[in-house]
Amino acid sequence: MYTIQPQVSLQPFNTFGIQAIAQYFVTITSIGDVQQLIKTPLFGKERHLILGGGSNLLLTQDFNGLIIKNEIKGIEILKEIDDTITLKVGAGENWHTFVLHCVNQDWGGVENLSLIPGTVGAAPMQNIGAYGVEIKDIIDSVEVVNLQDGTVSNFTNYACNFGYRESIFKQSHRDKYLISSITLTLTKKNHRFNASYGSIMDVLRDKGIAEPSVKAISDAVVQIRRSKLPDPAHIGNAGSFFKNPSINTETLEHLKLDYPNIPSFPGEKGLKKISAAWLIEQCGWKGKTFNNIGVHQHQALVLVNYGGGSGKNIWQLAMDIQASVKEKFNIILQPEVNVI
Ligand code: FAD
Ligand code: EPU
Repeated sequence: MYTIQPQVSLQPFNTFGIQAIAQYFVTITSIGDVQQLIKTPLFGKERHLILGGGSNLLLTQDFNGLIIKNEIKGIEILKEIDDTITLKVGAGENWHTFVLHCVNQDWGGVENLSLIPGTVGAAPMQNIGAYGVEIKDIIDSVEVVNLQDGTVSNFTNYACNFGYRESIFKQSHRDKYLISSITLTLTKKNHRFNASYGSIMDVLRDKGIAEPSVKAISDAVVQIRRSKLPDPAHIGNAGSFFKNPSINTETLEHLKLDYPNIPSFPGEKGLKKISAAWLIEQCGWKGKTFNNIGVHQHQALVLVNYGGGSGKNIWQLAMDIQASVKEKFNIILQPEVNVI
């Protein structure tokens, strides 16, 4: 059973730490809750926003509608054979707590995605990725509740249309479904480690680890992330604010004439990904502060709220950054963060 509360502060519910008020706020803990909620007159007349851990959101104003905080929990073993295990995980589970659960059992597949904030249910939304792995590499299917009629169905991995920081849930199916659980298959042995990201190898080497393990990779990723990214418990942020742009080889070669050091990586569909952090740094933004907001000193892609910053001002800063990158490089940075 759930209670709809009026006028709730969203400050504790977003990692930017932005103060904004939700007109209505409800916490749901089961699919049944969602099916009941969508039949209420209030749901019918108010706009809604599904909220997980609020770690990929920028609130630029009060939310005049209903915030649905997802706390559907549970980890269920669907199938276990000699070398793999298939799990169904409630969308309201904390992602990193789930990763640690897997690491502690020596189940392989999610270790590169250690320490990403937020919930399991939001992970397919933007196909979370880090250190050479994306959730699309291990996900089997995504269970959803249709917010029009309450029916429950499953999207196969293919049907989710995953891409770099993209899925069908972020695009054409946005706001139509509540993701209620995900199903994924992990390895119990013969793990397929991905230590291709240079800094993982460096950390393992520094620690004298010759044979990687699920735990060693997870620990290395946690160490690297802690050295680069601000902890939202201390400095408000939502991770990378923009996506890394994808450009064709010709454009990259053209840019390299003026900027031979521009970092680039293989992208999707033969395109090249270039570092948004580098572009922002070249425009002089890295480490800049403007009253209580700014651009992080160690990672130019992370915008920060030092306390009391407004979502509007952070959005204005993002737009100023976007304009200067456009002017200098003729590249338009696309926000990764969901701006509300
Ligand atoms: P929220 O911010 O609550 O929601 C994000 C979006 O998903 C919203 O549009 C929301 O409506 C929708 N949504 C949430 N739950 C559901 C649901 N159950 N059903 C339907 N829609 C839903 N991301 C990466 O990919 N890689 C990283 O390495 C990474 N590092 C980060 C580091 C830091 C310090 C921070 C603060 C963020 C980082 N992120 C990273 C971004 C963020 O952690 C992920 O996008 C995460 O998956 C968001 O989860 P959340 O539960 O907080 O989602
Ligand atoms: N760089 C700079 N200046 C900086 C930071 C980085 O020039 O201030 C350059 C360096 O050349 C560095 C390169 O950019 O080698 C890449 O930097 P980093 O390894 O920190 O990764 P990123 O491309 O900035 C992406 C993801 C992160 C993810 C890391 C690790 C996006 C938008 N961001 O960041 O995801 O954790 O790789 O895989 O793809 C997020 O999505 O919120 C997020 C944090």
